[in-house]
Amino acid sequence: MRLGLAGIRKTTVRPRARRRVRPAGIGAVLAMALAAMTVTLAACDAGSQTAGGKADGNGNAQVSARADTNANTNANAGVGRQTSASAASTSTVASTVKVTAHEAGQTRAQVYESVRQMTALGKQLFFDASLSGSGKLACASCHSPDHGFSPANSLSVQLGGNDMHRTGMRAAPTLKYLQSVPAFAEHYHESDDEGDESVDAGPTGGLTWDGRVDRGSDQARIPLLSSFEMGSTPAKVTAAVKAAPYAEAFRAAFGEHIFDSDAATFNAVLQALETFEQAPEIFYPYTSKYDAYLAGKAQLTKAELHGLEVFNDEKKGNCASCHISQRTMDGAPPQFSDFGLIAIGVPRNRALPVNRDPHFYDLGACGPERTDLKGRAEFCGIFRTPTLRNVALKKSFFHNGIYHSLDQAVRFYAQRDTNPEKFYPVVKGKVQKFDDLPQRYWANLNTEPPFDRKPGDKPVLDEAEIKDVVAFLNTLTDGYKAGNKAAN
Ligand code: HEC
Ligand code: HEC
Repeated sequence: MRLGLAGIRKTTVRPRARRRVRPAGIGAVLAMALAAMTVTLAACDAGSQTAGGKADGNGNAQVSARADTNANTNANAGVGRQTSASAASTSTVASTVKVTAHEAGQTRAQVYESVRQMTALGKQLFFDASLSGSGKLACASCHSPDHGFSPANSLSVQLGGNDMHRTGMRAAPTLKYLQSVPAFAEHYHESDDEGDESVDAGPTGGLTWDGRVDRGSDQARIPLLSSFEMGSTPAKVTAAVKAAPYAEAFRAAFGEHIFDSDAATFNAVLQALETFEQAPEIFYPYTSKYDAYLAGKAQLTKAELHGLEVFNDEKKGNCASCHISQRTMDGAPPQFSDFGLIAIGVPRNRALPVNRDPHFYDLGACGPERTDLKGRAEFCGIFRTPTLRNVALKKSFFHNGIYHSLDQAVRFYAQRDTNPEKFYPVVKGKVQKFDDLPQRYWANLNTEPPFDRKPGDKPVLDEAEIKDVVAFLNTLTDGYKAGNKAAN
């Protein structure tokens, strides 16, 4: 079984050399997205020329629309670079909004208006439980706005399905700060103006824990149709939208005849949800205490500052090597993720129904949810690095939701290798380390600090340092308002 793995690793992506403090390659796009959105209009009337845009032969009109002026101080950093190759090649998941407009030849103002309409509709859809098979589950049931769009409860995995008793295998992530997640790439290279293009940062990007979709619209399809989530169908969704209070607005946005086709209605629902998920003031406001601190408008406490130091220290937490904490080269605020897919050996969550089967493993990018990389050993056990913004609002941590406090999550990093018995089962005196990843994939595990210790070594963080890192993580919650200095 071990045969050949080393060879695979060499020719592909492991071991991954993550850069120390890596400015996100999509900084320009991110900043751009704060102030403007590129709207691709799939116009009905092919070839029509629009104000502020151009149409290609396929009836696709490229129109730039200023979609938001409620941007923070960094908003303008990348504006004007949106047509650059780097922006285009990173093909950010969220900064390009695809709008199916029923009218061609729109002016900028009209495009702006259709983004506004779509956002309003997307918001209503997001909170509408009638889209689900059970009639009881909305997107917001698992992605609560009061919890950074992560679950309000502390279940490891959420309940769904027609009887509301079914479960999947993963914790529901936050939906904030997804706007600059790049499209999934097996070998991710920075654009040359953002970093060293020759560095292969390995598998990076894509939405969900395993990066299996690139667009919000494709992602929204998953929970709507999943038998253990919303368990719906395009026909049910169409019937629900037709009967909803926003049916008229939906027709106004997507055309008089939109309800004639279930498929068209379903696609329009997906588009509206994607557009809503990109509303800057809701999904990436940058209003945390840490943002205020970076802008010189707030001071961190001694504990928070020390936590930040430990978080950044390459020989200590080294957290920032994956959870970027510094502004990008062009001044865009940090996302607290480099969006890399990484194996860190999170323990098996024995509380999950799916794990009652001892042969079942959630191997992340190599399956079973994701299917295109099946059988590619080097992708087994890797999950996308989540942002840590608003992480203090979460109640379950890691892809399987195994931990329920930040203290536990940080402690895992601090002591996984020095005190593995605290995290993994002990059978007949022997610690079953990495019990959720078959041994043939252990070569995929990250070995850089803080994962470079062994039993007997000093933990990479002591008790006080764990506490301070947690204090620092608490500064990443949006909505900080000390003396209204940093209020949005
Ligand atoms: C039953 C709970 C549940 C419901 C309902 C639900 N989600 Fe999710 N959501 C999840 C889970 C779990 C994941 C992670 C899935 C995975 O990694 O395979 C997720 C992932 C996502 C992601 C990707 C986040 C990331 O970090 O890449 C987006 C976007 C998203 N959901 C949007 C939605 C939308 C829109 C709806 C409604 C149409 C919705 N969700 C309904 C549980 C839910
Ligand atoms: C080598 C890259 C890497 C390093 C270094 C790293 N992380 Fe992570 N972090 C990840 C990945 C990948 C995940 C998701 C893993 C999973 O669920 O399987 C994660 C998840 C987390 C989570 C859970 C977030 C959530 O939404 O569930 C927290 C909290 C966290 N990291 C904090 C830290 C801290 C604190 C440090 C430093 C002590 C650190 N990380 C170092 C890659 C890294």
